[in-house]
Amino acid sequence: MNQRDVLRKEKAYKAIEKYEDVVSNDPFRMHYHIMPPVGLLNDPNGFIYYKGTYHLFYQWNPFGTEHTTKFWGHVTSQDLVNWQAQPIALAPSDWFDKDGCYSGSAIEVDGKLVIFYTGNVRDENGNRETYQCMAVSTDGVYFEKKGPIATLPAGYTPHFRDPKVWKYQDHWYMIVGAQTVNKEGTVVLFSSTDLEKWAFLGGIAGANLNGLGKFGYMWECPDLFYLDGKEVLLVSPQGLDPNGDEFNNIYQSGYFVGALDVKQPSYTHGRFHELDRGFDFYAPQTSEDSKGRRLLVGWMGIPEENEADHPTISHNWIHAMTLPRELELVKGKLYQLPVEELKTLRGKEVYYADVLLNTTEPLELDQVNGTVIELLIDVVDNESDIFCIEIGEKSKIVFDASKERLTFQRQQFKQSKQEERRCHLKNINKIQLFRDVSSIEIFVNEGEAVFSSRIFDNPTDGSIRFFASAETKINVHKWSIKRATR
Ligand code: FRU
Repeated sequence: MNQRDVLRKEKAYKAIEKYEDVVSNDPFRMHYHIMPPVGLLNDPNGFIYYKGTYHLFYQWNPFGTEHTTKFWGHVTSQDLVNWQAQPIALAPSDWFDKDGCYSGSAIEVDGKLVIFYTGNVRDENGNRETYQCMAVSTDGVYFEKKGPIATLPAGYTPHFRDPKVWKYQDHWYMIVGAQTVNKEGTVVLFSSTDLEKWAFLGGIAGANLNGLGKFGYMWECPDLFYLDGKEVLLVSPQGLDPNGDEFNNIYQSGYFVGALDVKQPSYTHGRFHELDRGFDFYAPQTSEDSKGRRLLVGWMGIPEENEADHPTISHNWIHAMTLPRELELVKGKLYQLPVEELKTLRGKEVYYADVLLNTTEPLELDQVNGTVIELLIDVVDNESDIFCIEIGEKSKIVFDASKERLTFQRQQFKQSKQEERRCHLKNINKIQLFRDVSSIEIFVNEGEAVFSSRIFDNPTDGSIRFFASAETKINVHKWSIKRATR
Protein backbone atom coordinates (compact mmCIF):
# COMPACT_ATOMS: atom_id res chain seq x y z
CA MET A 1 0.00 0.00 0.00
CA ASN A 2 1.47 3.37 -0.94
CA GLN A 3 1.49 6.42 1.31
CA ARG A 4 -1.11 8.17 -0.83
CA ASP A 5 -3.45 5.22 -0.30
CA VAL A 6 -3.08 5.45 3.48
CA LEU A 7 -3.71 9.21 3.40
CA ARG A 8 -6.77 8.99 1.16
CA LYS A 9 -8.36 6.33 3.35
CA GLU A 10 -7.58 8.34 6.51
CA LYS A 11 -9.18 11.40 4.97
CA ALA A 12 -12.28 9.36 4.10
CA TYR A 13 -12.58 8.00 7.66
CA LYS A 14 -12.25 11.58 8.95
CA ALA A 15 -15.11 12.64 6.67
CA ILE A 16 -17.27 9.91 8.24
CA GLU A 17 -16.35 11.05 11.75
CA LYS A 18 -17.02 14.67 10.92
CA TYR A 19 -20.44 14.24 9.32
CA GLU A 20 -21.96 11.08 10.82
CA ASP A 21 -24.16 13.04 13.24
CA VAL A 22 -25.43 15.35 10.51
CA VAL A 23 -26.15 12.32 8.33
CA SER A 24 -27.96 10.33 10.99
CA ASN A 25 -30.12 13.32 11.92
CA ASP A 26 -31.59 13.49 8.44
CA PRO A 27 -35.35 12.85 8.64
CA PHE A 28 -35.07 11.18 5.20
CA ARG A 29 -32.46 8.64 6.41
CA MET A 30 -33.69 5.09 5.89
CA HIS A 31 -33.93 2.13 8.29
CA TYR A 32 -33.28 -1.02 6.26
CA HIS A 33 -31.45 -0.02 3.10
CA ILE A 34 -27.73 0.18 2.40
CA MET A 35 -26.67 3.84 2.36
CA PRO A 36 -23.30 5.58 2.36
CA PRO A 37 -22.07 6.56 5.85
CA VAL A 38 -21.49 10.03 4.33
CA GLY A 39 -21.16 11.30 0.78
CA LEU A 40 -22.40 9.76 -2.43
CA LEU A 41 -23.12 6.10 -3.16
CA ASN A 42 -23.69 4.82 -6.66
CA ASP A 43 -23.24 1.42 -8.34
CA PRO A 44 -23.20 -1.88 -6.45
CA ASN A 45 -19.83 -3.57 -7.07
CA GLY A 46 -18.20 -6.93 -6.35
CA PHE A 47 -21.40 -8.60 -5.13
CA ILE A 48 -20.39 -12.09 -3.96
CA TYR A 49 -21.14 -14.83 -1.47
CA TYR A 50 -17.65 -15.59 -0.15
CA LYS A 51 -16.81 -18.03 2.64
CA GLY A 52 -20.29 -17.96 4.16
CA THR A 53 -20.76 -14.17 4.00
CA TYR A 54 -22.42 -11.86 1.49
CA HIS A 55 -20.09 -9.06 0.41
CA LEU A 56 -21.30 -5.96 -1.34
CA PHE A 57 -19.02 -3.14 -2.40
CA TYR A 58 -20.20 0.19 -3.71
CA GLN A 59 -19.06 3.21 -5.64
CA TRP A 60 -18.48 5.83 -3.02
CA ASN A 61 -17.40 9.47 -2.88
CA PRO A 62 -16.72 10.13 0.81
CA PHE A 63 -15.95 13.80 0.28
CA GLY A 64 -19.17 15.15 -1.17
CA THR A 65 -22.42 14.41 -2.89
CA GLU A 66 -21.11 14.77 -6.45
CA HIS A 67 -19.60 12.15 -8.77
CA THR A 68 -15.92 12.79 -8.06
CA THR A 69 -13.18 10.72 -6.32
CA LYS A 70 -14.67 7.22 -6.34
CA PHE A 71 -13.63 4.71 -3.68
CA TRP A 72 -14.97 1.20 -3.12
CA GLY A 73 -16.99 1.13 0.12
CA HIS A 74 -17.73 -2.30 1.57
CA VAL A 75 -20.50 -3.91 3.62
CA THR A 76 -21.07 -7.55 4.59
CA SER A 77 -24.02 -9.58 5.74
CA GLN A 78 -24.94 -13.08 6.87
CA ASP A 79 -28.54 -12.76 5.74
CA LEU A 80 -28.80 -10.06 3.03
CA VAL A 81 -30.79 -8.00 5.54
CA ASN A 82 -28.47 -6.80 8.33
CA TRP A 83 -25.33 -5.23 6.88
CA GLN A 84 -22.08 -4.35 8.67
CA ALA A 85 -19.69 -1.68 7.47
CA GLN A 86 -16.19 -2.93 6.62
CA PRO A 87 -12.93 -1.04 6.11
CA ILE A 88 -12.62 0.82 2.81
CA ALA A 89 -11.73 -1.72 0.09
CA LEU A 90 -10.17 0.53 -2.57
CA ALA A 91 -8.99 4.12 -2.66
CA PRO A 92 -8.02 5.97 -5.86
CA SER A 93 -4.33 6.34 -5.14
CA ASP A 94 -2.23 4.75 -7.90
CA TRP A 95 -1.20 5.99 -11.34
CA PHE A 96 -3.73 3.57 -12.92
CA ASP A 97 -6.74 4.58 -10.79
CA LYS A 98 -5.84 8.00 -9.41
CA ASP A 99 -9.11 9.69 -10.42
CA GLY A 100 -11.45 6.89 -9.42
CA CYS A 101 -11.72 3.19 -8.66
CA TYR A 102 -14.71 2.66 -10.91
CA SER A 103 -17.20 -0.21 -10.98
CA GLY A 104 -16.39 -3.88 -11.23
CA SER A 105 -17.02 -7.37 -9.91
CA ALA A 106 -15.66 -10.11 -7.64
CA ILE A 107 -14.85 -13.80 -7.90
CA GLU A 108 -13.44 -16.40 -5.55
CA VAL A 109 -10.24 -18.12 -6.67
CA ASP A 110 -8.40 -20.67 -4.52
CA GLY A 111 -9.96 -19.22 -1.37
CA LYS A 112 -9.03 -15.63 -2.30
CA LEU A 113 -11.44 -12.82 -3.03
CA VAL A 114 -10.37 -11.27 -6.32
CA ILE A 115 -11.88 -8.04 -7.59
CA PHE A 116 -11.78 -6.47 -11.02
CA TYR A 117 -12.47 -2.79 -11.42
CA THR A 118 -11.78 0.11 -13.74
CA GLY A 119 -9.06 2.61 -12.96
CA ASN A 120 -10.25 6.00 -14.16
CA VAL A 121 -7.49 8.48 -14.96
CA ARG A 122 -7.44 11.99 -16.37
CA ASP A 123 -4.21 12.98 -18.06
CA GLU A 124 -2.71 16.47 -17.70
CA ASN A 125 -5.04 17.76 -20.46
CA GLY A 126 -8.11 16.32 -18.78
CA ASN A 127 -8.44 13.46 -21.29
CA ARG A 128 -9.84 10.17 -20.02
CA GLU A 129 -7.70 7.05 -19.69
CA THR A 130 -9.09 3.72 -18.60
CA TYR A 131 -7.43 0.64 -17.07
CA GLN A 132 -9.06 -2.68 -16.20
CA CYS A 133 -7.43 -3.61 -12.88
CA MET A 134 -7.27 -6.48 -10.41
CA ALA A 135 -6.95 -6.53 -6.60
CA VAL A 136 -6.68 -9.57 -4.34
CA SER A 137 -7.63 -10.28 -0.75
CA THR A 138 -6.95 -13.33 1.39
CA ASP A 139 -9.42 -12.34 4.13
CA GLY A 140 -12.15 -10.59 2.14
CA VAL A 141 -11.38 -7.30 3.90
CA TYR A 142 -7.96 -5.96 2.90
CA PHE A 143 -7.08 -5.79 -0.78
CA GLU A 144 -3.76 -5.66 -2.53
CA LYS A 145 -3.87 -3.93 -5.89
CA LYS A 146 -2.20 -5.82 -8.75
CA GLY A 147 -2.60 -3.04 -11.34
CA PRO A 148 -3.90 -3.17 -14.92
CA ILE A 149 -4.62 -6.57 -16.50
CA ALA A 150 -6.15 -5.67 -19.86
CA THR A 151 -5.52 -2.93 -22.40
CA LEU A 152 -7.93 -0.85 -24.45
CA PRO A 153 -8.44 -2.58 -27.83
CA ALA A 154 -8.42 -0.62 -31.11
CA GLY A 155 -11.81 0.67 -32.24
CA TYR A 156 -13.05 1.79 -28.79
CA THR A 157 -12.94 5.09 -26.90
CA PRO A 158 -11.71 5.31 -23.28
CA HIS A 159 -15.37 4.97 -22.22
CA PHE A 160 -14.44 1.38 -21.49
CA ARG A 161 -15.26 0.17 -17.99
CA ASP A 162 -17.06 -1.98 -15.40
CA PRO A 163 -15.53 -5.48 -15.86
CA LYS A 164 -17.65 -8.46 -14.85
CA VAL A 165 -15.77 -11.76 -14.61
CA TRP A 166 -16.97 -15.39 -14.46
CA LYS A 167 -15.66 -18.87 -15.10
CA TYR A 168 -16.94 -21.16 -17.85
CA GLN A 169 -15.35 -24.55 -18.45
CA ASP A 170 -11.58 -23.99 -18.22
CA HIS A 171 -11.48 -20.27 -19.01
CA TRP A 172 -12.22 -17.04 -17.27
CA TYR A 173 -14.36 -14.58 -19.19
CA MET A 174 -14.69 -10.84 -18.68
CA ILE A 175 -17.24 -8.50 -20.24
CA VAL A 176 -16.68 -4.76 -20.25
CA GLY A 177 -19.07 -1.88 -21.03
CA ALA A 178 -17.76 0.12 -23.96
CA GLN A 179 -18.18 2.74 -26.64
CA THR A 180 -16.99 2.22 -30.20
CA VAL A 181 -15.13 5.00 -31.99
CA ASN A 182 -18.43 5.54 -33.86
CA LYS A 183 -20.05 6.39 -30.51
CA GLU A 184 -22.10 3.19 -30.25
CA GLY A 185 -22.71 1.61 -26.85
CA THR A 186 -21.50 -1.97 -26.71
CA VAL A 187 -20.32 -4.90 -24.58
CA VAL A 188 -17.03 -6.63 -25.32
CA LEU A 189 -15.64 -10.01 -24.25
CA PHE A 190 -12.15 -11.02 -23.07
CA SER A 191 -10.86 -14.42 -21.93
CA SER A 192 -8.00 -15.60 -19.78
CA THR A 193 -6.59 -18.76 -18.24
CA ASP A 194 -4.58 -17.11 -15.45
CA LEU A 195 -6.57 -13.88 -14.69
CA GLU A 196 -3.48 -11.78 -15.41
CA LYS A 197 -3.28 -11.90 -19.20
CA TRP A 198 -6.54 -11.26 -21.02
CA ALA A 199 -7.19 -11.81 -24.73
CA PHE A 200 -9.68 -9.53 -26.46
CA LEU A 201 -12.32 -11.61 -28.29
CA GLY A 202 -14.62 -8.89 -29.67
CA GLY A 203 -17.99 -7.22 -29.24
CA ILE A 204 -20.90 -9.49 -28.29
CA ALA A 205 -23.84 -7.06 -28.14
CA GLY A 206 -24.42 -3.40 -28.74
CA ALA A 207 -25.92 -0.65 -30.83
CA ASN A 208 -25.77 -1.66 -34.51
CA LEU A 209 -24.91 -5.25 -33.56
CA ASN A 210 -27.14 -8.33 -33.84
CA GLY A 211 -29.74 -6.30 -35.72
CA LEU A 212 -30.31 -3.95 -32.80
CA GLY A 213 -29.92 -0.68 -34.73
CA LYS A 214 -29.36 2.62 -32.96
CA PHE A 215 -29.27 1.87 -29.24
CA GLY A 216 -27.34 4.40 -27.20
CA TYR A 217 -23.84 5.87 -27.21
CA MET A 218 -22.41 4.01 -24.20
CA TRP A 219 -23.32 0.80 -22.38
CA GLU A 220 -22.34 0.72 -18.70
CA CYS A 221 -22.17 -2.01 -16.09
CA PRO A 222 -22.71 -5.22 -18.08
CA ASP A 223 -23.45 -8.46 -16.26
CA LEU A 224 -23.90 -11.87 -17.88
CA PHE A 225 -25.21 -14.98 -16.15
CA TYR A 226 -26.79 -18.34 -16.81
CA LEU A 227 -30.40 -18.74 -15.70
CA ASP A 228 -32.73 -21.60 -16.59
CA GLY A 229 -30.70 -22.63 -19.63
CA LYS A 230 -30.37 -19.11 -21.04
CA GLU A 231 -27.72 -16.44 -20.88
CA VAL A 232 -29.07 -13.18 -19.56
CA LEU A 233 -27.15 -9.98 -20.29
CA LEU A 234 -27.86 -6.99 -18.05
CA VAL A 235 -26.66 -3.64 -19.22
CA SER A 236 -27.20 0.05 -18.54
CA PRO A 237 -27.29 1.91 -21.85
CA GLN A 238 -26.94 5.66 -22.08
CA GLY A 239 -28.57 7.60 -24.90
CA LEU A 240 -31.86 5.80 -25.53
CA ASP A 241 -34.75 8.05 -26.55
CA PRO A 242 -38.01 7.76 -24.60
CA ASN A 243 -40.40 5.36 -26.32
CA GLY A 244 -43.95 5.71 -24.95
CA ASP A 245 -43.96 4.34 -21.40
CA GLU A 246 -40.43 2.99 -21.83
CA PHE A 247 -37.06 4.66 -21.32
CA ASN A 248 -38.34 7.68 -19.45
CA ASN A 249 -35.38 8.10 -17.11
CA ILE A 250 -32.22 9.80 -18.38
CA TYR A 251 -30.40 6.42 -18.54
CA GLN A 252 -31.88 2.90 -18.53
CA SER A 253 -31.07 -0.49 -17.07
CA GLY A 254 -32.37 -3.61 -18.68
CA TYR A 255 -31.65 -7.04 -20.04
CA PHE A 256 -31.58 -9.33 -23.02
CA VAL A 257 -32.25 -13.08 -22.90
CA GLY A 258 -30.12 -15.03 -25.34
CA ALA A 259 -27.37 -17.51 -26.03
CA LEU A 260 -23.66 -16.80 -25.81
CA ASP A 261 -21.13 -18.55 -28.00
CA VAL A 262 -17.73 -17.71 -26.57
CA LYS A 263 -15.92 -19.26 -29.55
CA GLN A 264 -17.19 -16.81 -32.21
CA PRO A 265 -17.77 -14.82 -30.02
CA SER A 266 -21.46 -14.03 -30.48
CA TYR A 267 -24.54 -13.43 -28.42
CA THR A 268 -27.90 -13.95 -30.11
CA HIS A 269 -30.63 -12.31 -28.14
CA GLY A 270 -34.20 -11.08 -28.06
CA ARG A 271 -35.43 -7.57 -27.33
CA PHE A 272 -34.27 -5.28 -24.54
CA HIS A 273 -36.53 -5.14 -21.48
CA GLU A 274 -36.32 -2.49 -18.81
CA LEU A 275 -35.68 -4.09 -15.42
CA ASP A 276 -37.41 -1.59 -13.21
CA ARG A 277 -40.12 0.92 -14.10
CA GLY A 278 -39.55 3.40 -11.29
CA PHE A 279 -37.63 6.67 -11.19
CA ASP A 280 -34.55 5.50 -9.32
CA PHE A 281 -32.81 2.39 -10.54
CA TYR A 282 -29.50 1.96 -12.32
CA ALA A 283 -26.35 -0.16 -12.74
CA PRO A 284 -27.67 -3.38 -11.10
CA GLN A 285 -25.33 -6.28 -10.40
CA THR A 286 -26.09 -9.94 -9.74
CA SER A 287 -24.44 -12.83 -7.95
CA GLU A 288 -25.22 -16.47 -7.28
CA ASP A 289 -25.27 -17.64 -3.68
CA SER A 290 -24.78 -21.09 -2.13
CA LYS A 291 -28.51 -21.76 -2.39
CA GLY A 292 -28.22 -21.41 -6.16
CA ARG A 293 -30.23 -18.19 -6.19
CA ARG A 294 -29.45 -15.44 -8.70
CA LEU A 295 -29.56 -12.29 -6.58
CA LEU A 296 -29.67 -8.71 -7.79
CA VAL A 297 -28.94 -5.39 -6.12
CA GLY A 298 -29.38 -2.10 -7.95
CA TRP A 299 -28.42 1.47 -7.24
CA MET A 300 -31.62 3.27 -6.17
CA GLY A 301 -30.61 6.38 -8.07
CA ILE A 302 -29.81 7.63 -11.54
CA PRO A 303 -26.69 9.54 -12.53
CA GLU A 304 -27.12 13.23 -13.29
CA GLU A 305 -30.89 13.12 -12.85
CA ASN A 306 -32.38 15.13 -9.98
CA GLU A 307 -29.22 14.83 -7.92
CA ALA A 308 -28.93 18.54 -7.29
CA ASP A 309 -32.51 18.52 -5.96
CA HIS A 310 -32.11 15.69 -3.44
CA PRO A 311 -32.98 17.10 -0.01
CA THR A 312 -30.48 14.71 1.65
CA ILE A 313 -27.58 16.72 0.19
CA SER A 314 -27.96 19.24 2.99
CA HIS A 315 -27.20 16.32 5.37
CA ASN A 316 -24.04 15.34 3.45
CA TRP A 317 -25.22 12.09 1.91
CA ILE A 318 -27.07 10.90 -1.17
CA HIS A 319 -28.51 7.65 -2.61
CA ALA A 320 -29.02 4.07 -1.46
CA MET A 321 -29.15 0.51 -2.76
CA THR A 322 -32.37 -1.29 -3.60
CA LEU A 323 -33.39 -4.24 -1.47
CA PRO A 324 -31.77 -7.47 -2.70
CA ARG A 325 -34.00 -9.35 -5.13
CA GLU A 326 -34.10 -12.90 -6.40
CA LEU A 327 -34.38 -13.39 -10.15
CA GLU A 328 -36.36 -15.96 -12.05
CA LEU A 329 -36.95 -16.42 -15.74
CA VAL A 330 -40.66 -16.82 -16.50
CA LYS A 331 -41.65 -17.27 -20.14
CA GLY A 332 -38.58 -15.40 -21.34
CA LYS A 333 -38.99 -12.49 -18.91
CA LEU A 334 -37.12 -11.75 -15.71
CA TYR A 335 -39.27 -11.74 -12.59
CA GLN A 336 -37.85 -10.12 -9.47
CA LEU A 337 -38.92 -10.76 -5.90
CA PRO A 338 -37.53 -9.36 -2.65
CA VAL A 339 -35.35 -12.03 -0.99
CA GLU A 340 -37.31 -14.10 1.51
CA GLU A 341 -34.90 -13.19 4.34
CA LEU A 342 -36.55 -9.77 4.43
CA LYS A 343 -39.45 -11.43 6.24
CA THR A 344 -37.20 -11.59 9.33
CA LEU A 345 -37.52 -7.80 9.57
CA ARG A 346 -41.29 -7.95 9.89
CA GLY A 347 -42.68 -6.68 13.19
CA LYS A 348 -46.31 -6.72 14.22
CA GLU A 349 -48.76 -7.77 11.52
CA VAL A 350 -52.07 -6.04 10.85
CA TYR A 351 -54.41 -8.03 8.61
CA TYR A 352 -57.76 -7.29 6.99
CA ALA A 353 -59.54 -9.92 4.88
CA ASP A 354 -62.10 -9.20 2.16
CA VAL A 355 -62.04 -5.43 2.37
CA LEU A 356 -64.68 -4.09 0.03
CA LEU A 357 -63.73 -0.82 -1.59
CA ASN A 358 -66.70 1.26 -2.58
CA THR A 359 -66.75 3.83 -5.27
CA THR A 360 -67.09 7.05 -3.34
CA GLU A 361 -64.55 7.59 -0.58
CA PRO A 362 -60.88 6.60 -0.40
CA LEU A 363 -60.62 4.11 2.45
CA GLU A 364 -58.17 4.30 5.35
CA LEU A 365 -57.80 1.18 7.50
CA ASP A 366 -57.00 1.44 11.18
CA GLN A 367 -53.26 0.76 11.71
CA VAL A 368 -52.55 0.28 8.02
CA ASN A 369 -50.04 3.10 7.89
CA GLY A 370 -46.45 3.97 8.72
CA THR A 371 -43.30 5.22 7.05
CA VAL A 372 -41.18 2.08 7.64
CA ILE A 373 -43.45 -0.73 6.52
CA GLU A 374 -44.19 -3.61 4.22
CA LEU A 375 -47.62 -3.82 2.66
CA LEU A 376 -49.06 -6.83 0.84
CA ILE A 377 -52.30 -6.46 -1.07
CA ASP A 378 -54.13 -9.38 -2.68
CA VAL A 379 -56.59 -8.13 -5.20
CA VAL A 380 -59.25 -10.80 -4.75
CA ASP A 381 -61.84 -9.40 -7.07
CA ASN A 382 -61.39 -6.35 -9.23
CA GLU A 383 -64.45 -5.00 -10.97
CA SER A 384 -63.19 -1.49 -11.35
CA ASP A 385 -61.43 0.40 -14.07
CA ILE A 386 -59.33 2.32 -11.61
CA PHE A 387 -57.71 0.87 -8.50
CA CYS A 388 -55.53 3.19 -6.52
CA ILE A 389 -53.27 3.16 -3.44
CA GLU A 390 -52.24 6.56 -2.10
CA ILE A 391 -49.14 6.78 0.07
CA GLY A 392 -48.87 9.99 2.04
CA GLU A 393 -50.09 13.10 0.28
CA LYS A 394 -48.08 12.87 -2.89
CA SER A 395 -47.34 9.28 -3.96
CA LYS A 396 -49.82 7.06 -5.72
CA ILE A 397 -50.06 3.70 -7.44
CA VAL A 398 -52.86 3.56 -10.00
CA PHE A 399 -53.96 0.56 -12.05
CA ASP A 400 -56.11 1.43 -15.04
CA ALA A 401 -57.75 -1.78 -16.26
CA SER A 402 -59.13 -0.32 -19.48
CA LYS A 403 -55.69 0.93 -20.49
CA GLU A 404 -53.96 -2.14 -18.95
CA ARG A 405 -51.52 0.24 -17.31
CA LEU A 406 -49.92 0.62 -13.92
CA THR A 407 -48.72 4.09 -12.96
CA PHE A 408 -46.57 5.29 -10.10
CA GLN A 409 -46.83 8.96 -9.28
CA ARG A 410 -44.68 11.04 -6.96
CA GLN A 411 -43.85 14.65 -6.29
CA GLN A 412 -40.80 16.02 -8.09
CA PHE A 413 -38.00 16.57 -5.60
CA LYS A 414 -37.80 20.31 -5.89
CA GLN A 415 -40.84 21.63 -7.65
CA SER A 416 -44.23 20.80 -6.28
CA LYS A 417 -45.26 19.24 -9.61
CA GLN A 418 -46.31 15.59 -9.84
CA GLU A 419 -44.47 13.20 -12.18
CA GLU A 420 -45.12 9.60 -13.15
CA ARG A 421 -43.74 6.37 -14.59
CA ARG A 422 -45.88 3.69 -16.19
CA CYS A 423 -45.83 0.14 -17.45
CA HIS A 424 -48.15 -2.11 -19.38
CA LEU A 425 -49.83 -4.87 -17.34
CA LYS A 426 -52.86 -6.97 -18.25
CA ASN A 427 -54.14 -7.22 -14.70
CA ILE A 428 -53.07 -6.96 -11.08
CA ASN A 429 -53.51 -9.63 -8.46
CA LYS A 430 -50.79 -8.85 -5.96
CA ILE A 431 -48.91 -5.75 -4.86
CA GLN A 432 -46.04 -6.02 -2.38
CA LEU A 433 -44.73 -2.66 -1.32
CA PHE A 434 -41.79 -1.66 0.86
CA ARG A 435 -41.62 1.86 2.19
CA ASP A 436 -38.50 2.96 4.01
CA VAL A 437 -39.10 6.63 4.92
CA SER A 438 -37.87 8.12 1.63
CA SER A 439 -38.10 5.11 -0.69
CA ILE A 440 -40.81 2.94 -2.19
CA GLU A 441 -40.21 -0.40 -3.92
CA ILE A 442 -43.28 -1.96 -5.48
CA PHE A 443 -43.33 -5.60 -6.64
CA VAL A 444 -46.38 -6.36 -8.75
CA ASN A 445 -47.86 -9.81 -9.48
CA GLU A 446 -45.05 -11.82 -7.83
CA GLY A 447 -42.29 -9.88 -9.53
CA GLU A 448 -43.75 -9.35 -13.00
CA ALA A 449 -43.08 -5.60 -12.72
CA VAL A 450 -41.05 -3.58 -10.22
CA PHE A 451 -40.98 0.15 -9.52
CA SER A 452 -38.21 1.59 -7.31
CA SER A 453 -38.29 5.25 -6.40
CA ARG A 454 -37.21 7.72 -3.76
CA ILE A 455 -39.88 10.02 -2.36
CA PHE A 456 -39.19 13.28 -0.56
CA ASP A 457 -42.53 14.87 0.19
CA ASN A 458 -43.16 14.32 3.89
CA PRO A 459 -41.02 11.78 5.79
CA THR A 460 -43.52 11.59 8.66
CA ASP A 461 -46.75 11.15 6.69
CA GLY A 462 -47.40 7.40 6.80
CA SER A 463 -51.01 7.56 5.70
CA ILE A 464 -52.33 5.02 3.19
CA ARG A 465 -55.64 5.17 1.36
CA PHE A 466 -57.29 2.74 -1.03
CA PHE A 467 -59.70 3.66 -3.75
CA ALA A 468 -61.53 1.83 -6.56
CA SER A 469 -63.86 3.22 -9.18
CA ALA A 470 -66.24 0.24 -8.78
CA GLU A 471 -66.59 -2.53 -6.21
CA THR A 472 -63.27 -4.22 -5.56
CA LYS A 473 -62.28 -6.71 -2.88
CA ILE A 474 -58.80 -6.81 -1.37
CA ASN A 475 -56.92 -8.52 1.47
CA VAL A 476 -54.45 -6.26 3.23
CA HIS A 477 -51.39 -7.25 5.28
CA LYS A 478 -49.23 -4.64 6.87
CA TRP A 479 -46.06 -5.12 8.87
CA SER A 480 -43.92 -2.56 10.61
CA ILE A 481 -40.28 -3.16 9.70
CA LYS A 482 -37.41 -3.31 12.16
CA ARG A 483 -34.26 -1.26 11.78
CA ALA A 484 -31.47 -3.11 9.95
CA THR A 485 -28.92 -0.49 8.90
CA ARG A 486 -27.76 2.93 10.02
C1 FRU B 1 -22.43 3.88 -13.70
C2 FRU B 1 -21.01 4.40 -13.74
C3 FRU B 1 -20.05 3.33 -14.20
C4 FRU B 1 -18.75 3.76 -13.60
C5 FRU B 1 -19.21 4.33 -12.27
C6 FRU B 1 -18.40 5.46 -11.74
O1 FRU B 1 -23.23 4.59 -12.81
O2 FRU B 1 -20.92 5.55 -14.57
O3 FRU B 1 -19.98 3.15 -15.60
O4 FRU B 1 -17.84 2.73 -13.44
O5 FRU B 1 -20.54 4.74 -12.45
O6 FRU B 1 -18.80 5.78 -10.46
